[in-house]
Amino acid sequence: MENESRRKFLGVCAAGAAVVAAGGVAYPVFRYLAPKAGETGTEKVVFAETDVPEGEAKFFQYAGSSAVVVRTKAGQLIALSAVCTHLGCIVQWEKDQQDFLCPCHAGRYTPDGTVISGPPPKPLAKLPVAVAEGKITVG
Ligand code: FES
Repeated sequence: MENESRRKFLGVCAAGAAVVAAGGVAYPVFRYLAPKAGETGTEKVVFAETDVPEGEAKFFQYAGSSAVVVRTKAGQLIALSAVCTHLGCIVQWEKDQQDFLCPCHAGRYTPDGTVISGPPPKPLAKLPVAVAEGKITVG
């Protein structure tokens, strides 16, 4: 009888230890996979309209990644992910050419993110952008 209750006690201890061990593994995995604060894609970034003159681009962080707003010489305002769709380098704005150049493998994009040349397989991802009361809002 004493052996049986000892066996039950050891069984409960083993089950408790297993739960603690599982939690010790699961929690770091959850933290790794869960979005960090500000990476949910629901945030908004606001600039003054004067921050992006015609023919210029402004780079910023959006949803945990690099993004860019460009105002074309025709006055069109476009917000894009600045992450190249080839292997993920950050594109650069070529003011003289009025296009984006990826420094890694010379991929080129138009100001609206369309691929002109090079290895990128698809356009830069567009981001929602709005202008009101002298402010540009992305997101
Ligand atoms: S990573 Fe941009 S062209 Fe290769």
